[in-house]
Amino acid sequence: MKKILFSGVAALALAACGGASPSPAAGGDPCGGDPCGGDPCGGDPCAGASAADEGVGPLKVGAGYESWTKLNTEKWKSKTHGGRMVEVYVNDVGLEAYKNDETDIPVGSVIVKTSFEADGADGPVFVMEKREDGFAPDTENWYYAMYWPVVPPKWQKRLGNAVYWESPSNKVDYCWKCHENYDRELGGIPAEVATWQQ
Ligand code: HEC
Repeated sequence: MKKILFSGVAALALAACGGASPSPAAGGDPCGGDPCGGDPCGGDPCAGASAADEGVGPLKVGAGYESWTKLNTEKWKSKTHGGRMVEVYVNDVGLEAYKNDETDIPVGSVIVKTSFEADGADGPVFVMEKREDGFAPDTENWYYAMYWPVVPPKWQKRLGNAVYWESPSNKVDYCWKCHENYDRELGGIPAEVATWQQ
């Protein structure tokens, strides 16, 4: 049934592409399914229809990271974060612990990883915060977020125009699935660019 419905929606979306712009009167919501998955129109028939178009507002957890301590001397390429160039900032609560593998990360530590696309545009901001016991026993009480207020055109079909995924949304489950494999759930900073290892 789902499949049949979907092709109906796709057909509507296709029909809508004949005109200058999809009209709501064409029946229902052409973006109810995922007609954009197959790119029926070459353009983006759903532009303007996604909730993400409203924007996502400012960064919450991690706000102000620009004034925190940056822990890398130079950007490096993070294979695990889309092959983007990245940097890492840590707030005062977590600073000493982050640099010392033997130390537990204290509650209230916030780590922000900024990233840049190949053309230098801002990529997503990745945030982790160590929260109180009971926040999320399944993730060692780590909060995760991915914040990308201006998604470049090539990613918009998949992500919408703006992204703010954060715990407890299952959109950030994949962060934990990878991070849980690391000591203290931290991937760390390559020694060549870690400020305290030069
Ligand atoms: C496939 C594995 C993988 C996934 C998925 C992943 N990370 Fe990471 N993360 C790493 C590794 C490895 C590092 C450190 C090395 C690097 O980035 O090159 C890291 C580093 C970080 C850091 C810096 C703190 C640290 O761990 O040392 C933050 C913050 C971060 N990731 C957040 C996130 C968030 C938020 C998500 C999900 C939106 C995510 N990561 C998804 C593997 C991953």
